[in-house]
Amino acid sequence: MSKVNMAVDLGGIPMKNPVNTASGTFGFGKQFENMMDVSALGAVTGKGCSAQPWPGNPQPRMHEVTSGMLNSVGLMNPGVRGMVEKYGDYLEALSGKTSVICQVAGHSVQEYVDALALYDELTPWAAGFELNISCPNVSKGGAAMGSTPEGASEVVRECRQVTNRPLVVKLAPTRVPEIASAVQEAGADAISLINTIPAMAIDVDTRRSYLSRPTAGLSGPAIHPIAVRMAWEACNAVTIPVCGIGGIMTGRDAAEFILVGCTAVSVGMASMVEPAASIRVLRELEQWAQSQGVSDISELRGAFLC
Ligand SMILES: Cc1cc2nc3c(=O)[nH]c(=O)nc-3n(C[C@H](O)[C@H](O)[C@H](O)COP(=O)(O)O)c2cc1C
Repeated sequence: MSKVNMAVDLGGIPMKNPVNTASGTFGFGKQFENMMDVSALGAVTGKGCSAQPWPGNPQPRMHEVTSGMLNSVGLMNPGVRGMVEKYGDYLEALSGKTSVICQVAGHSVQEYVDALALYDELTPWAAGFELNISCPNVSKGGAAMGSTPEGASEVVRECRQVTNRPLVVKLAPTRVPEIASAVQEAGADAISLINTIPAMAIDVDTRRSYLSRPTAGLSGPAIHPIAVRMAWEACNAVTIPVCGIGGIMTGRDAAEFILVGCTAVSVGMASMVEPAASIRVLRELEQWAQSQGVSDISELRGAFLC
């Protein structure tokens, strides 16, 4: 039994500990059921879904690189209705044991609004919603909309009208302080960051990209130090809670995000390498908190000494 209170509140989403899953790397939780105790996590965030199903980009869509991976999945998803039909019963049961966060994807403000309205109606068990305004793998909208303070605040303002439940806004790794402030102003309850960083990898024999598109999103240990810096900037720019994401492989990686001011963290690509990585990260984070001699993890939030 832990001596440290690990419970946190992510903008109205209660979490029994700070460890969440990064969207798109953990399916809808059910896929991991026979490999770990999914309900032990502080929250589970599912793959982003849009109002209508999306096929995603052509294969190949993933490629391993030094210290990370590139993906150009392009938000392939079964649509909100399709997701609820397939995973709704599982997620409803899970929501009794941990917070379930449903992620919203769209190409335009109207598409975000439509998807969120569907979620609000069909997922009464969701503790909150995450708006992905930062996917680098969709041709229009997505990253473009989330890459300016004006675009980001427009999406958030319109979505704010659709639900009373907590809204987490996931930022792209660009203009972080300005966009974080803008989405807070527009009504976000929390911020999560970072999404993948646009990158390229070329097979020099064939002179082609390893993926079906020239660019793809980089995730994994390679982006961790950049993500920590951006999370620190976000924490300094806003008063709402921040969830740190990027290259978390160990509890110590997660602890860096807490020290720069994050309330929670999400484990991403690590779950694709080691399915129960999130549980190990939780255990290691707790051990670190104990080693720091605190009785509540919140005492370590923002405790970074410059
Ligand atoms: C295969 C794959 C699919 C992803 N799908 C989504 C998604 O649907 N929505 C989203 O916001 N981020 C998505 N991401 C980005 C992750 O949630 C996370 O922000 C990013 O991978 C950085 O964390 P990591 O370095 O721990 O993986 C995806 C990442 C990967 C590797």
